[in-house]
Amino acid sequence: MTERVLTGITTTGTPHLGNYVGAIRPSIEASRAEGVESFFFLADFHALIKCDDPARIERSRLEIAATWLAAGLDPERVTFYRQSDIPEITELTWLLTCVTAKGQMNRAHAYKAATDANVAAGEDPDAGVTMGLYCYPILMAADILMFKAHRVPVGRDQVQHIEMARDVAQRFNHLYGQGRELLVLPQAQIDEELATLPGLDGRKMSKSYDNTIPLFEGGAKGLKEAVARIVTDSRLPSEPKDPDASHLVTIWDAFATPQQRQQFRADLRAGLAWGEAKQRLVDLIESHIGPMRPRYEELMAHPERIEEILQEGARKARAVARPLLAELRDAVGLRPLKPLAQPKTAASGRAAGPAQAALPVFKQYREADGRFYFKLTAHDGTVLLQSTGFAEGREAGAWVKRLKAEGSAALAGAPVERGAEVSPEQVAAALDALAAAQE
Ligand code: TRP
Repeated sequence: MTERVLTGITTTGTPHLGNYVGAIRPSIEASRAEGVESFFFLADFHALIKCDDPARIERSRLEIAATWLAAGLDPERVTFYRQSDIPEITELTWLLTCVTAKGQMNRAHAYKAATDANVAAGEDPDAGVTMGLYCYPILMAADILMFKAHRVPVGRDQVQHIEMARDVAQRFNHLYGQGRELLVLPQAQIDEELATLPGLDGRKMSKSYDNTIPLFEGGAKGLKEAVARIVTDSRLPSEPKDPDASHLVTIWDAFATPQQRQQFRADLRAGLAWGEAKQRLVDLIESHIGPMRPRYEELMAHPERIEEILQEGARKARAVARPLLAELRDAVGLRPLKPLAQPKTAASGRAAGPAQAALPVFKQYREADGRFYFKLTAHDGTVLLQSTGFAEGREAGAWVKRLKAEGSAALAGAPVERGAEVSPEQVAAALDALAAAQE
């Protein structure tokens, strides 16, 4: 069985070298493994919780998508989409909201940090806290559960959210599953190996510390200028340097082979000047990033190409999300209306009236391509079967007649495809009901 791995990237900010080393590079590498099915998405609804500047949201979505694609993400292999393009996620969020304990949300880290800070400042605990922040973990649970993800690689700060997703999935299964595992319980994957790259000043590289090295922004020149600003000690050229006391070496290590790591250390101990060491670091990073830059620039110049990739990703993602959501809606009782008490006697079973109204219908039609088609739709409009195109209307008609008369027995070999949201059992049941009504 393939394992589903899912990762979300909040679209605030511009990706920097720390994001590349800590998240982008390892995630793309992991997505190439055998037996893994990866879902990567831009968590742009989450971004709205943190940012109310539309221009920044727009820019960040573009830059982040371009960065991941330029860094080698293969949208053919991975399902790459935007959270906001999947309405099923929003809908699932509500279903989950209704089974999430408020007390548990009170304990979510991000919310607690905000109220703690307010209390410390002598403010009302909820000052400035939106319902978006408060419900953040529920939206995140929907992201994960919508795709039945088994494994979710995250930083330590997100582990609590994965646990909350497990809890809410468990509760939902318990309430509505009737023994079935409607939602899959996800597992957090914390990669202890994952490098957190130090920034210019040696603290964790982070936009909030203003110590980042840009990834693609500013080009090779921007990279060189940032590396020049890495803080080093004041040892003079030719003085021996201590490689283990320098975060410049940690950044070097993130791109170097074991042999390059050794050589760099030896050269520093032998008195390599910091200026020269920085030039080598620029060259090393550039040897990794440089080849991706033309692709990044091309994508940034053609956002419509990214848009197309993301639309295709949304199509793939929704093909997974739609049937599950239909199942969940049904499980909670959001079902097409039907008579509450079905008459049980054999005679009334085939009677006209309400039961009849619930039968599926065949429709024949002609498309703009000049070919003839038919489809079978359920009484609620769900497409159960869709035919291929026929040159002659007669051929379509013959198939419809046969399917009506023989029911599911005629399915094998019929030139039809099942609708995206329906199971083989549903189709068979619908056809057989129709066949029974013909008798
Ligand atoms: N909250 C995550 C972060 O800030 C981003 C995210 C949103 C996410 N939805 C997700 C990560 C689902 C993993 C799975 O890093």
